[in-house]
Amino acid sequence: MIKAIKGTRDIFSPEVEKWQFAERMMRRVCALYGYEEVRTPLFEATELFARGIGEATDIVTKQMYTFKDGSEHSLTLRPEATASLVRAFVEHGMDNEPGITKWYCMGPMFRYETPQKGRYRQFSQWDVEVLATENPAVDAEVIELLMRFLDSVGVQDTQLQLNSVGCPVCRPQYTAVLQQELRKNKDRLCVDCQVRIERNPLRVLDCKVESDQSLIDALPAIDDYLCEDCKTHFAAVQRFLGLSEISFDRNKRLVRGLDYYTKTTFEVVVGGLGAQNSVAGGGRYDLLVEELGGKPTKAIGFALGMDRLVLAMPESSSEISGIRVLIIAMSDNSFDYAFEKVQLPLRNANIPCELDYQRRSLKGAMRLADKRKVDWVVIAGDDEVSEQKVTLKNMKNGEQARYSIEEMIEKVR
Ligand code: HAM
Repeated sequence: MIKAIKGTRDIFSPEVEKWQFAERMMRRVCALYGYEEVRTPLFEATELFARGIGEATDIVTKQMYTFKDGSEHSLTLRPEATASLVRAFVEHGMDNEPGITKWYCMGPMFRYETPQKGRYRQFSQWDVEVLATENPAVDAEVIELLMRFLDSVGVQDTQLQLNSVGCPVCRPQYTAVLQQELRKNKDRLCVDCQVRIERNPLRVLDCKVESDQSLIDALPAIDDYLCEDCKTHFAAVQRFLGLSEISFDRNKRLVRGLDYYTKTTFEVVVGGLGAQNSVAGGGRYDLLVEELGGKPTKAIGFALGMDRLVLAMPESSSEISGIRVLIIAMSDNSFDYAFEKVQLPLRNANIPCELDYQRRSLKGAMRLADKRKVDWVVIAGDDEVSEQKVTLKNMKNGEQARYSIEEMIEKVR
C-alpha cells in the first residue's frame, strides 16, 4: 500500500468544514480591512528564500525542500509566503508606485521538520502583508485584523505577545553585548545555542531547551539598546493597540525564526494546543524589499498556521455543508422519475440533495438519512409517479405528506 508521506495528511469531513469556515472568515475580514488576494507559485528559486529568510536560519539550513529541475535550476518548495510576495511586489514594479499595498494569500507551505501535533511538513498558512508604510498604526491594524479574525472563528484563550527587535542602527550593539555575555557561558548552553552565539546570537533568546532558560533569562534585554526611532515607533504601536482595545503581553525574548524582522515582532499563542501553541506570528521587515532588489520599502505582516488554527477552533465553527434532502426511489420506474423530475429541479433550485444510488430498502434509506442528518426525505414510488407527485417526510418532526414537485421545493426552501 502506498501511504501519504510522513508529515503530510489527508483532511476529511468534519474537519474540512472547519477549514472552509475559517477560509471564508479570512476572506471576509480581509475584505473588511481592504486587503486583496494574491496567488504566487508553490516553488521559487532557492536563492529567494536563502536571501530573504536568512542563510543562518533553521528554515534555510535544515528545513527546505530543495531540488533541481530538468534544467538544473535549484528550486525550493515555499517554506513561507513573505519572500514570494515581496518577490512579486518587486518583479511587478510596485515599489515604484505610490500608495500602500495590502495583500493576503493562503495555501500550503513546506518545511522538513519533525512532525508532531500541530507541526507538519506540509502545512497551510494565511499570510497578510502591508507594504510601503512605516506608520505604527498599521502595525496595530494588522494585529487587530488577526485578533478580530480569531474571535470570529471562536478561538478562545488567545494571548498576544509583543516585542521590538530594533533595527540596523541599534541591533548590532545589542547583539554584540549578547555575544559577549553568551561567550562567557558557552559551555553551559545547548549545542545549538553554542553555534548560534557566533552565527545568530539573537536566536538564543528563542531557545526552548530547559537547561538554558535560567541563563537566557539573565541576559540583558533589548529595551536598553533600542535607538530613539525604534523606541518611539514601539511606543506608538502600543498606543494604537490601546486605542483598538487590544491587550498584549510584552515578551522581551520574542525574536522569531526568520532573519528579516526589524522593530515590531508579535505572536499569538493559544492555550490547550500543547508544544506547538503559536497560531500566528509576524512583524515588520523594513529592509526585505531592498534586500530582494527593490526600492527601500517598509512593510509588516503575519502568517497564521491554519492546521493549528483548526485544532483550536470549536466544533461549532464549521461550514454548514452536506445534503439537506435524500431522495429515495422505490422501483426502477420511479428511479428514472426521481433522477429527472426530483433531483434535477431540486438542484436547479440550489437545494443540496442526493439520490440514493445504492437503492436501499426504505428502512435502510431512512437509517442513512438519520446518519447524514438530512432535513428532508423525498420518497418516489409507482403511486407518486402516476400522480406526478412525491412523498415528503420532515425528518425533524416526522410529518409526511404528498406534494407536487413545485410544492415540495417550496416547502424545502
Ligand atoms: P512563522 O512563524 O515561521 O512565520 O510561521 C507562522 C505560523 O505558521 C506559525 O505561527 C505556525 O502557526 C505556522 N507554522 C509554521 N511552521 C509550521 C509547521 N511545520 N506545521 C504547522 N504550522 C506551522 C512566517 O512564516 C512568516 N512568513 C510570517 C510573516 C509574514 N512575517 C511577516 N509577514
